[in-house]
Amino acid sequence: MNYHVLTLFPEMIQDGLNTSIIGRAMEKGLISLQTTDIRDYSTNKHHKVDDYPYGGGAGMVMQAEPVYGACKAVSEKIGYRPRVIYLTPQGSVFNQTIAEDLAKEKDLVFLCGHYEGIDERVLEEVVTDYLSIGDYVLTGGELPAMVMIDAISRLVPGVLNNDESAQFESFQDNLLEYPQYSRPEEWNGKIVPPVLLSGHHANIEKWRREQSVIRTALRRPDLLDKAQLTNSELELISRISEPEA
Ligand code: ADE
Repeated sequence: MNYHVLTLFPEMIQDGLNTSIIGRAMEKGLISLQTTDIRDYSTNKHHKVDDYPYGGGAGMVMQAEPVYGACKAVSEKIGYRPRVIYLTPQGSVFNQTIAEDLAKEKDLVFLCGHYEGIDERVLEEVVTDYLSIGDYVLTGGELPAMVMIDAISRLVPGVLNNDESAQFESFQDNLLEYPQYSRPEEWNGKIVPPVLLSGHHANIEKWRREQSVIRTALRRPDLLDKAQLTNSELELISRISEPEA
């Protein structure tokens, strides 16, 4: 997977992603990260990239030409027109399903806006996907781009050490992950659930599944509609939502 991030703050992206699992994946050559400074494509002698909005109003708008130039340079380098993701609170909200879809691409371009946005004409010309990371407004697209790169990269084969860890976790099956415990057996007066020490794998699996269902019902009931549940699990949920008097 090759990421290309178009931004006015390339160092923010580089610094944010060169550590830990993503940094290691880059060292191993499983993913690559290229940042393009949009300012380098300014046609203005002062390297200006923004101007006042036509029609008036607060703030500045990123101009079309530098964004177009930065984007075109990537397409020319890789020899085709890749998916170009514009990070904006006006986009569809990014989720695990979208991450899985994007992880199939060979190249992905992330276009990070600042100020009051980017001239609509260049967005119409280059953007294939409008994506948001949630219903709140950030100062720029860099953090959302990093969030998506992290979520997508861990789906790239070989990025995670243990193949299983990508499979059994939150949002698999639309259920949240069960609680985890490690040593010591007793901490702060709290013990590890005895079933986990029993060595009885079937019972452990059963307990974990139940915990996933209970946790999802309590914390993210909105996910349950999409989860595949057995009759006894549905019964368990109804007991949680309507506790007996
Ligand atoms: N840019 C500013 N806010 C954003 C958000 N919530 N998601 C994606 N891009 C953004």
